[in-house]
Amino acid sequence: MSEDNNSKGLLGWIDARFPLSKMYDEHLGKYYAPKNFNFWYFFGSLALLVLVLQIVTGIFLTMHYKPDGDMAFKSVEHIMRDVDWGWLIRYLHSTGASAFFIVVYLHMFRALLYGSYQKPRELIWLFGMFIFLALMAEAFMGYLLPWGQMSYWGAQVIISLFGAVPIVGDELTLWIRGDFVVSDATLNRFFALHVVAVPIVLLMLVVMHIIALHEVGSNNPDGIDIKKTKDANGVPLDGIPFHPYYSVKDLVGVVVFLILFSVVVFFMPEMGGYFLEYANFVPANQFKTPEHIAPVWYFTPFYAILRAVPDKLLGVIAMFSAIVVLFLLPWFDRGKVRSIRYRSTSFKWLLAMLIVSFVGLGYLGALPSTGVRTLFAQIFSVGYFGFFVGLWFISKNEVTKPVPERVR
Ligand code: HEM
Repeated sequence: MSEDNNSKGLLGWIDARFPLSKMYDEHLGKYYAPKNFNFWYFFGSLALLVLVLQIVTGIFLTMHYKPDGDMAFKSVEHIMRDVDWGWLIRYLHSTGASAFFIVVYLHMFRALLYGSYQKPRELIWLFGMFIFLALMAEAFMGYLLPWGQMSYWGAQVIISLFGAVPIVGDELTLWIRGDFVVSDATLNRFFALHVVAVPIVLLMLVVMHIIALHEVGSNNPDGIDIKKTKDANGVPLDGIPFHPYYSVKDLVGVVVFLILFSVVVFFMPEMGGYFLEYANFVPANQFKTPEHIAPVWYFTPFYAILRAVPDKLLGVIAMFSAIVVLFLLPWFDRGKVRSIRYRSTSFKWLLAMLIVSFVGLGYLGALPSTGVRTLFAQIFSVGYFGFFVGLWFISKNEVTKPVPERVR
C-alpha cells in the first residue's frame, strides 16, 4: 500500500491502493505537450473518438445481427427497418469505418510531415503500424458480415490471394475460409474475430501506442525536442499541460469532426457508393459474380498495386511490401531534421510524389482495369516505392535549413 501521497478523502483512499492521481498527472495534468500543436494534432484524439464510437455502435448492432449465411443479410435489413434507431446505429458504424481510415491516414501523414516516426519515436510508429494492420483486418472482416454481393465476392477475391503462396497456398485458403468457398463457416469465424478478437488487440495496441508516446513525449510541427529547455522545476519551457489546454482544444476538433460526420450519416451515408457499395444492397449469391469487384476506398491503393503487377504471386508480394516499407520508414529516413519546415526541397518533392502516387493508386484501384489504367498504376506504384528508396538516398546528406532552439 502506497502511503506517500497527499490526497485525502475518497481519492486518498483510492490513491493508497491504486495509482489514480499518479496516472492522471502522468497522462493529463502534468503531461507537458509542446505549445505549438496545429490542426494536424487533432487526428490522434479523433481516432480515439472513432474507436469508441465503433465499439459502442458495434455492441448495439451485435444485439440484432445474426451471423448466419441464411439470416445475416435479412438481419441487417431488419436493423435498418424494424429496430428502433437501428438505421442510425448502422449508418454510424458504416460511416465510422470510413471515417476511421480518413482520420488514421491523415494522422499518419502528419507523422510524415513532422518526422514523428524518427528517433526516439520509432516504437510509437511501429505500434501505429500494427494498429493500421489490425484496423485493415477489422474492416475486411466486418465487410463480410452484411453478406451482400460485394461482401461475398470481395472476401472471395482477397482470400484467394493467399492461394498464390507457393506449396501451401491451397491449404492456406481452405484454412482461412473453413470451406471450399466463402460460406457460413467463414461468416461465423469472421464475426467472432471482428467482434471480439481484433477489437481486443486494437485496444491493447492503442494503449501501448499512447504509453510509448507519453514515455518519450510528443513531437511538434517544428520537430524540436522541447525537453532540451526546461525551467528550474524540470518543466519544459515550451510545454503546456495536456489538461486543460489540449483537452479543450481537442474538443474544437471533435465538434468540427462531428458536424462533418453527421452530414454524411444523415444526408449521404452511401457517399456515392464509396462508403457503402451499391452491389452490397443485393444479397450474396454464390453463383453470380458481380460485374466489377472493387474493395472499399481505403483498400484501393494497395489493391491497385496488386493489380499493377501481371504475375499473381509477385503482385501479392508487391502489395504486402507496400505495407512493409511503411513499417520500415523510421530506418529509410536517415535525416537529422524532423519537420518538413526545415527539410530540403528534394524531401518536399519526394513527399509530393508519394501523395500523388497514393491518391492516384486509390483512384485506379476503384475502377475496372484497362491497359492505360494498368500502365498508370505501374507508374504510381514506382512512385510509391520510389518515395522510400529516394528518402534513403537523399536523407543521409540532406541540406536542411537551420532548426531554431525553441518552438516558434
Ligand atoms: C486507432 C488508431 C490510432 C489511435 C487511437 C491513435 C492515437 C494517437 C494519439 C491520441 C496520439 C497523440 C495525439 C497526436 O499526436 O495526434 C498519437 C500520436 C502518434 N501516432 Fe497514433 N493513433 C492511431 C493510429 C496510428 C497509426 C496507424 C500510426 C502510424 C502508423 C500512428 C502514429 C503516431 C505517431 C508517430 C504519433 C506521435 C506524433 C507526434 O508526437 O508528432 N498512430 N496517436
